Amino acid sequence: MIHLTQTISETRLAIQKEISQGKIIGFVPTMGALHEGHLTLVRKAATENDFVVVSIFVNPIQFNNPEDLAKYPRTFNIDIKKLEGTGCGLVFAPSADEMYPEPDLTVFEFGQLDKVMEGKFRPGHFNGVAIVVKRLFEIVTPTKAYFGEKDFQQLAIIKKMVSMLQIPIEIVSCPIVREHDGLAMSSRNARLTPEERAEAPTIHKALSGIKENYSWFIPDGVKQLVRGEIQESHFFRVEYVDVVDTGTLQPFEDWNDAEHAVVCVAAYIGSVRLIDNIILY
Ligand code: PAJ
Repeated sequence: MIHLTQTISETRLAIQKEISQGKIIGFVPTMGALHEGHLTLVRKAATENDFVVVSIFVNPIQFNNPEDLAKYPRTFNIDIKKLEGTGCGLVFAPSADEMYPEPDLTVFEFGQLDKVMEGKFRPGHFNGVAIVVKRLFEIVTPTKAYFGEKDFQQLAIIKKMVSMLQIPIEIVSCPIVREHDGLAMSSRNARLTPEERAEAPTIHKALSGIKENYSWFIPDGVKQLVRGEIQESHFFRVEYVDVVDTGTLQPFEDWNDAEHAVVCVAAYIGSVRLIDNIILY
């Protein structure tokens, strides 16, 4: 049976009990509407720790678009069913009042990391992510915490926060889990119409195509090609395609200027905003 908690105090108590028995805590923060991508993180955590905590909290302060927050899928009972058998021991699902009894005015300084891509198009988003993840870390006190490469920039920012604040938690990154047709799994996919769903794999097709051929082009050429290929489908409105260094997340002009490179995409299909990425090298 999975232990369900809603308050910070009962969560701390339950986790302290496990720690006092010598158990190592693994943690997977989520916003619910769980899919195989989330469950893969939980299973991995279960193989590497003695007790796994999953949080389900649709964090209002990381949504810059009120409609996105209102329409974010909430499927708590189904989520709990899906977690059964994954090795999850406790689900912490607080209310917004429990997490934020007062507004949190913390402002993080991530340098250039949050000035590009998601940070540029979703102002305040990563500050809201950092605030909630730091609070969750303080409550759960895990040894390891698991994040998906689907949110590539989020992963970089969490790693930066942990190193800046010297938080003693190991951040474990997990590869993107995809549907059979290549679409990156996402809670927002549930909002696609059948026609949009059929077109949605275009993003991954464009990205995996360029992975084979990128070295024929300069980084800027890769951006144009990927953007052009996605926009050939009239369902899409591309917000950005960027080729960046995996460490700094900054663009570069020559392949020799980046040790490792990733192409990141955000595109609207109808009213649903999808993100995806592929590591080139
Ligand atoms: P959420 O979008 O629910 O994602 C929770 C975790 O699952 C994140 O680390 C995300 O990268 C990972 N994930 C989502 N889809 C994935 C996929 N297809 N393959 C692999 N991993 C995937 O990210 C958040 O929630 C929030 O910002 C959060 C960190 C919980 C803070 O509120």
